[in-house]
Amino acid sequence: IQVERFLDRLPIPRRIVPYGTKKGVKLYRVRAAEFTARLHSQLPAARLWGYDRQYPGPVFEALQGEPIEVEWENGLPQRHLFQVDRRIHGAMAPVPEVRMVPHLHGARTESESDGLPEKWFTPGESRRYSYPNEQRAATLWYHDHALGITRLNVYAGLSGFYLLRDREEMGMDLPKDDYEIPLLLQDRTVDASGVLLYLPTHEDGKELPPGQWGPEFFGNLPVVNGAIAPYLEVEPRPYRFRVLNGANARFFELTFNLGRDASHPSLVDFQQIGTDGGLLPAPASLNRLLLGPAERADIVVDFSRHAGRTLTLQNSAWAPYPGWTMFNIRPQPVPELMQFRVSLPVRPNRAAVNVKPVAFARLDEKASVRTRDFVLSERVDGFGRSLGVRIDGKGYDDPVSETVKLGTVETWRFINTTDDAHPMHLHLVQFQILHRRTFDTLAFPRVLQFVGNPRPPAANEAGWKDTAIVRPNEVLSILVPFEGYAGRYVFHCHMLEHEDNDMMRPYVVVR
Ligand code: C2O
Ligand code: CU
Repeated sequence: IQVERFLDRLPIPRRIVPYGTKKGVKLYRVRAAEFTARLHSQLPAARLWGYDRQYPGPVFEALQGEPIEVEWENGLPQRHLFQVDRRIHGAMAPVPEVRMVPHLHGARTESESDGLPEKWFTPGESRRYSYPNEQRAATLWYHDHALGITRLNVYAGLSGFYLLRDREEMGMDLPKDDYEIPLLLQDRTVDASGVLLYLPTHEDGKELPPGQWGPEFFGNLPVVNGAIAPYLEVEPRPYRFRVLNGANARFFELTFNLGRDASHPSLVDFQQIGTDGGLLPAPASLNRLLLGPAERADIVVDFSRHAGRTLTLQNSAWAPYPGWTMFNIRPQPVPELMQFRVSLPVRPNRAAVNVKPVAFARLDEKASVRTRDFVLSERVDGFGRSLGVRIDGKGYDDPVSETVKLGTVETWRFINTTDDAHPMHLHLVQFQILHRRTFDTLAFPRVLQFVGNPRPPAANEAGWKDTAIVRPNEVLSILVPFEGYAGRYVFHCHMLEHEDNDMMRPYVVVR
């Protein structure tokens, strides 16, 4: 379908307010339900699922040291918005078609409040989860995690921001209130009557029979904060954007372009001040930013020198990422996400941006007590089509093979033998990227033979992460401190089609 780009204003998701407090703990209630909303003013309203009937869900504002409790209610209908592939593990009969379980991504919580995929609950049920907020300030987000249908539930609209603040960060001069804006970046496919369509594809871009699992979904429309290709009017001053790649499978390589289009680029520099796990040890100056699904970037864009101009937020990442080589049929990227119009008068009292250095200790490899290797592989049929992606050839239901000791640091290596990049995510922890190395795929698995030098993380990845990209022919090594709680957790690829079938494994932390 054709809709006019940059016609609608960027929606800013509402903040949620607690309904009460109990012994100093703020209490919230969130009900997931079906509702209708327009994704674009020229389209009829679409049926969506949303937390508190909002897409994106309401924004949580939490403070370090102040625990909260959330009562999550499943108010969804008995029939799914999309056709459920019943052949996927965890979605097979007799489990009910509609299930949900919310997960607070990036948070250190007890296992019971983590939202493990198998802890789903059905329409009419609810769960009370507690979030201790004992970690440092960070851009967290919450989304559905129900086993075998996460891709469908999140695509239907079940995700939102959770901004955790602390006094250290609040003591800095950073743009706030109207000048601090969350940006949920996604891609969606909509038909002419406004209906949201979930149409995954084979990796060569070919369509699948309806309702069937496919290795990735790529939509053809950019959706930011629930609006197709919106615009935002800004003042000529610095803004802080909490950028989240909330797409199912699409990577975004972002630039702010002052030029008329992608072929006449005039890229604007910006500062990345934070990653998944909070502020970086030092801001990184960039003009290009890669985000895989679930990764976040806390950035400051200074529009001061661009009064009267228009900037376009562009994306140049191929889908699949980094690009399919075997068939050479690559779906076109979603090239433009939104516009920034520097059209508002600047209000007085504009604060200077002053990011103070934060306490940050780089983990030493020598602190690691153990190295675990995980081989990422894809099973294909006789036509080279994906039958599923796996970690160490195992599925989610295979017995737990990773038991780690609370309070220790381990090195985890993800060895990517597939043609796709994968954003690998661990629950419970924030980790540091040690390095990435290219390896000889022909010699593997006989021997893990590295080619060239290890590549330490770039300045904008040299902080705390909970999701990190591993490219084809690459080994990603991370240093993981297992802190907080003992119990059962999971790790997985955050391309939701991969996570659902079956690139997810449990792990257990013991005392
Ligand atoms: Cu963002 Cu296991 O999830
Ligand atoms: Cu993956």
